[in-house]
Amino acid sequence: MEELLEQYKSTTVQDVTVWFKAAQVSKFPSNGGACIKYKDKQIAVFNFERKKAWYACQNVCPHKMEMVLSRGMIGDQNGVPKVACPMHKKTFSLENGENLNGDLDPIATYPVKIENGFVYVGFSE
Ligand code: FES
Repeated sequence: MEELLEQYKSTTVQDVTVWFKAAQVSKFPSNGGACIKYKDKQIAVFNFERKKAWYACQNVCPHKMEMVLSRGMIGDQNGVPKVACPMHKKTFSLENGENLNGDLDPIATYPVKIENGFVYVGFSE
């Protein structure tokens, strides 16, 4: 299980070496998420239309290692965009991955950019 988590490392815009072209904007539900695959990673990508922002994070929830975060509900906690895991409602900041209602390890987050109608996710490897 540890190995599964080890492949997910938070990436900042400054660290990006590869902008992966994920899919057209229209493939992502508004105010919801979808899962994309990059190498061996499953990444949850969220179109947070209410905030006019996009976010990406590992799809695996660190609670029970379920690949489910892309199906989580997104929301806002004191201005911090968050996703709630659909299994047991652990919530994570979409900005820095912090577990907002518990003491789980943070999830990895990735930058997203939109260009010419396509969604790109930034990786450093
Ligand atoms: S598996 Fe995500 S909260 Fe339990």
